[in-house]
Amino acid sequence: MAHPRRILRTDDPQVNAYRWLTSTVLPRPIAWVSTVSADGVGNLAPHSFFTVACARPPIIAFSSVTRKDTLANVEATGELVVNVASLPQRDLVNDSSALFPAGVDETVALGIATEPSELVTPPRVADAPVALECRLHSTVELGDSTLVLAHVLLVAAREDVLATDGYPSVDRLQPLSRLGRNEWGLPPEVFTLDRPTSPEDVHR
Ligand SMILES: Cc1cc2nc3c(=O)[nH]c(=O)nc-3n(C[C@H](O)[C@H](O)[C@H](O)COP(=O)(O)O)c2cc1C
Repeated sequence: MAHPRRILRTDDPQVNAYRWLTSTVLPRPIAWVSTVSADGVGNLAPHSFFTVACARPPIIAFSSVTRKDTLANVEATGELVVNVASLPQRDLVNDSSALFPAGVDETVALGIATEPSELVTPPRVADAPVALECRLHSTVELGDSTLVLAHVLLVAAREDVLATDGYPSVDRLQPLSRLGRNEWGLPPEVFTLDRPTSPEDVHR
């Protein structure tokens, strides 16, 4: 059956493509990005235009929509830590998105505990279940946004979030996600399904 559809061309100035994309491409995981400026001022901000970009070498990608302190710091120092934004920290994650001036460290202003990283200057969020210490790979200028590609040098995972197979369990990670509008996603309901290897494995 054909469903009636609303058709929107993104070159129509009446169409808010950003609203359509953020309300459609979801849930988006949240990178809680820790950086330090060239002057040594810390910074922490959430970014939900975030995904894995390459398996080997391990590279993640997030996008700065307009130029922000996080982007300036990454460009200046080439270092960042991507902390997993987890349910117990939801208010702090949101609070850290406020427009703090560049000279203010959100972790200090909001009382967010940090711990030193192993390989980079930006600290990890102490309570983050997993933190990825990264070095800038490259940036891609895209209109009003800049895609940041970052090489993951090291994974720092809390022992208590690991399952018996040694990898993070989604139940313990409790990842937050960003939806459209001002909506957030709670940790997901999970089901398992084995991936078919050959067409004969496909269930009908
Ligand atoms: C859940 C959430 C996700 C966000 N995702 C992004 C994003 O992907 N890109 C972006 O530029 N800003 C995003 N923002 C807004 C930034 O966090 C906000 O502009 C912040 O002030 C930037 O901080 P900075 O200037 O210290 O880097 C998001 C905000 C929230 C609450």
